[in-house]
Amino acid sequence: MKSIGLDTSGKMIVKGPQKAKGTLTVSGAKNAVLPIMGASLLTDDDIDLRNVPDLADVRTMIEILESAGKVIERFDDQLIIKSSGNINSEIPYEPVRKMRASFNVYGPLTLRNGYAKVALPGGCSIGARPVDFHLEGLKKLGIESTIEHGFVTSKLNNPNSFINISLPFPSVGATEHVLTTACLLEGVKTTITNCAIEPEVTDLVNFLNKMGAKITGGGTSILKIEGVKKLSGVKYTIIPDRIEAGTYIILGKLVGEKLTIKNVSAEHLNSLFSVFDNIGSPVDYDEKKREVKVAETLLNPLNSISMETAPFPGFPTDLQPQITTFLSLVPGRSTITETVFKSRFYHIDELNRMGAKIRVEDNTAIIEGVNKLSGAPVEATDLRAAAALLIAGLVAEGETIISNVDHIFRGYENIHEKLEQVGIELIYEK
Ligand code: EPZ
Repeated sequence: MKSIGLDTSGKMIVKGPQKAKGTLTVSGAKNAVLPIMGASLLTDDDIDLRNVPDLADVRTMIEILESAGKVIERFDDQLIIKSSGNINSEIPYEPVRKMRASFNVYGPLTLRNGYAKVALPGGCSIGARPVDFHLEGLKKLGIESTIEHGFVTSKLNNPNSFINISLPFPSVGATEHVLTTACLLEGVKTTITNCAIEPEVTDLVNFLNKMGAKITGGGTSILKIEGVKKLSGVKYTIIPDRIEAGTYIILGKLVGEKLTIKNVSAEHLNSLFSVFDNIGSPVDYDEKKREVKVAETLLNPLNSISMETAPFPGFPTDLQPQITTFLSLVPGRSTITETVFKSRFYHIDELNRMGAKIRVEDNTAIIEGVNKLSGAPVEATDLRAAAALLIAGLVAEGETIISNVDHIFRGYENIHEKLEQVGIELIYEK
């Protein structure tokens, strides 16, 4: 497999239908490791991270931390982040263009140098993604921002001693950004309400507390932070990736044959498990082994369902395209209402090219189940759409060519090798 670039131009050729047989192991969570790597800017001590997935987005965050003055060593799934002795507070446009999550270094860099200049994240194919909640929250922490020529520049003012921040929506990124920044405001007591409670946010809280932060309320929608003078280096292991796990469970429900998915945290996927309960195909989870045994289920009588995405513990928007592929083959009419990224439906036209019958009204996809899909040339617009089209290609009859497929390397570690391991044949061409 060629090394990961970040132009998304590669294509994947999938001949279907195929069967997946054997064992897949879930890697560390992309959406946990990225904010945790960003938080390393809060200390000059060494940070030793384990279970770090090898993903394009992780490489972009490495690029950003190195441009900020960090020295990074990588050994398999271990990442050691060291200080070079100085912190550069100006982050160029290129890495932020590639990955929005990089914007979250803005607050920590401001604390380290009293100012920061970071490119404003641009548009995104899954819908509008402004950072107004981030900037509003940071402003309450005393960080003034000016937007000019596509960059945000900050100035650190003396914060109040008691700060209350109520987020208009439980935004994952805004919660992580404000919480990380508030940790190092010595003696300042910050309360953030209506926080996101995604497992990745809780992983960040646990990491920061291990560095010596004083955060209470982890896992709840109210976080209380007492700022400290200094944070120390730690060794920390990243949680498994629930979105990768969910993607493979959905894949297994369509093309699995004695497929085992290891390193799955059921407590992070209850919403997916209950969707499959409603569909009439419960997920077989082994608590002790933390693994799922899954097999193709389409031959069983299945129920069409109505569901919606929502912030955790609701059904994750990052599994919406994949479950849409599944429901396109369930008899009857199903609906999916997307409440997080209201226009996250770019995969629909591509699935319809493969014979699905789906239409979108406002932020709801209305799916008339069909009994088969057929292979076709399709285009991936983002990471999760790429995964949904790959799954569709594996169950469809004939050849599917997915162009712009490199998006998939942003969030699925070694996906080609992992699928090959369970007997799936894919051809990747750059
Ligand atoms: C995180 O994005 C994830 N990314 C996304 O995963 C995920 O889809 C999303 O959370 C929701 O679960 C990472 O963790 C790196 P939000 P984030 O702020 O933080 C609006 C993937 O595939 N909003 O929770 O950007 C926003 O437009 C990626 O792995 C504002 O209006 O999501 C959206 O409608 C894709 N203003 C909603 O809130 C703001 O300042 C939720 O966004 C911030 C957000």
